[in-house]
Amino acid sequence: MQDTIERELPFGLNSSVYRDESVLERERQRVLLPSWQIVCHESDLATPGAMLRFDFLGRSAVLLRGRDAVLRAFLNVCSHRGSRLVDGDPATGLASCVDARLRCPYHAWVYDQDGRLQHVPYAERYESLDREALGLRPVALETWRGFVFVAFETPPRSVAAMFAECDAELAPYRFEDLRRISEPRLRPREANWKVICENYLDSYHLAVAHPTLKQMVGRSYRFDGRDDIQRISGEIEAHSASTWSARAYSRWLPETAHLPRERQRLWSYYFVWPNFAFDIYPDQIDFMQMIPVAPGRTMIREIAYAMPGNERPQRLSRYLNWRVNRQVSVEDRTLIERMQLGLASGDYERGPIAADEHGLRWFNSRWRGAFEG
Ligand code: FES
Repeated sequence: MQDTIERELPFGLNSSVYRDESVLERERQRVLLPSWQIVCHESDLATPGAMLRFDFLGRSAVLLRGRDAVLRAFLNVCSHRGSRLVDGDPATGLASCVDARLRCPYHAWVYDQDGRLQHVPYAERYESLDREALGLRPVALETWRGFVFVAFETPPRSVAAMFAECDAELAPYRFEDLRRISEPRLRPREANWKVICENYLDSYHLAVAHPTLKQMVGRSYRFDGRDDIQRISGEIEAHSASTWSARAYSRWLPETAHLPRERQRLWSYYFVWPNFAFDIYPDQIDFMQMIPVAPGRTMIREIAYAMPGNERPQRLSRYLNWRVNRQVSVEDRTLIERMQLGLASGDYERGPIAADEHGLRWFNSRWRGAFEG
């Protein structure tokens, strides 16, 4: 493994790390499981008894809103014989239960809202039953500005600490007040998770592969790096863009009362180490999470949110935004799946990364750093 970890910053990672099963297992242990994973917004689980199943790299958590309004997370496995407790909706993971209690479908053990084992049918048949030890195992959960994160292993920093340097600039967006505007979207991609993350951070391809996006934000497109977060941003100026969606968006984007003047027409992207990003627009906000499935396969999970209120100008700008970004997504899919074909071929080792590719260099540097020592 160590042989494959090149340390020279001007070069990208060795191609083997995008196709090797053992590398993905090392990433799982060292990078991905000990990282915060964005799950949803607090408002997605607003009522007592609301639940959500969240699967990540073979692990599964269940998030449950208790009768006391507290949101908790547990490993989604029964302490009796190991059955999965909650399935939820196949696409969204959302579910609900009676009185915020979890009942295992196999032998009907019941757990209370805080994970304590509450009821065991025919408990007298057991010689001994340590109910304290047989509760559900908690999963680390943190809420930051209304968004909910879990970690299956202990991460190095809190979510709040990761976002500390950006907190003031994000405060005007009032994340806490957002509400979901679409069902979660799952987009399978035939590419390694790092290929998708790197593509997100790659500014070199903007002019070549995303002509409309280039026309919209290209002139002011810029990167700012932090420890755990990379910010990319650009001002909307698409009066002469080649698609009517971009021109109309630029023209009809309404003023957003709660945003300062300098953010009224700013599209910004906050990529968070190692595998998710907030796409922040004046009219809506979404997150995009790259979940590895296999060395050459990734599930992109996305959920979009906006401030309550559904006036026509807001609906129109969100629709136009969706049209523009749907095209970007189609363009990116082609790019990343072509990349994976080349990386998986064995005919390529590694290539240079330009000095101004700050996002790519940062991502590669963080990845290499995770495997030092
Ligand atoms: S496995 Fe859950 S009650 Fe038996």
